[in-house]
Amino acid sequence: MSAVSIIGTGNMANAIGGVFAKGGADVTYIDRANTGSAPLAGDVVVLAVPYPALADIVAAYGDQFAGKIVVDITNPLNFETFDSLVVPADSSAAAGLQQQLPTAKVLKAFNTTFAATLAAGKVGDLTTTVLIAGDDTAAKNTLAGLVTAGGLQAIDAGALSRARELEAMGFLQLTLAAGEKITWTGGFGVVR
Ligand SMILES: NC(=O)c1ccc[n+]([C@@H]2O[C@H](COP(=O)([O-])OP(=O)(O)OC[C@H]3O[C@@H](n4cnc5c(N)ncnc54)[C@H](OP(=O)(O)O)[C@@H]3O)[C@@H](O)[C@H]2O)c1
Repeated sequence: MSAVSIIGTGNMANAIGGVFAKGGADVTYIDRANTGSAPLAGDVVVLAVPYPALADIVAAYGDQFAGKIVVDITNPLNFETFDSLVVPADSSAAAGLQQQLPTAKVLKAFNTTFAATLAAGKVGDLTTTVLIAGDDTAAKNTLAGLVTAGGLQAIDAGALSRARELEAMGFLQLTLAAGEKITWTGGFGVVR
């Protein structure tokens, strides 16, 4: 059985953990109070926290991320203006995380799927698709295996440099939902 750690106990933690558990993975949730002290079980660690918390988590676990698949799901929005990302336009939250954790295998995933569509497994009539970007192909295959075992589709979206485009997509989708042009149970779907 695959073991996965999820840091965070909010909407996305539960939705992602639910997908993994459905696929038979052993999921350990780490809440805020135990962040830094709870061990990181398994090879895959999902950081299901707001973007500003990434710095705290890097500081808390540091070298313990070495060799792990670290999944960044954040949409690093400026939530005061709702009009820009807070990361440089030629980079991404995930690229910044990889710089801070050079010995980890950082992936960007889940940021283009609302929690409700992960839990439902559907976006409208379509199977929910998780887009995964990263530089380590084996790591992407591991995450894709967990996602598909849980009943969703997974697509390798390319190198970690594609995280910038995934974050732009996630940003756009959030503005559409916040502007009530789409619902929080809807969003982008993928037809192969
Ligand atoms: N919701 C969505 O549909 C969606 C879709 C795509 C991407 N995302 C991204 O997913 C991430 C999580 O969103 P969410 O909707 O799940 O948020 P949420 O329900 O508010 O959950 C956030 C979790 O992070 C924890 N946390 C916050 N700061 C922390 C810190 N410094 N150390 C440890 N844990 C900390 C919170 O703990 P406490 O409960 O103690 O505050 C909570 O468990 C965000 O980056 C968001 O941009 C969300």
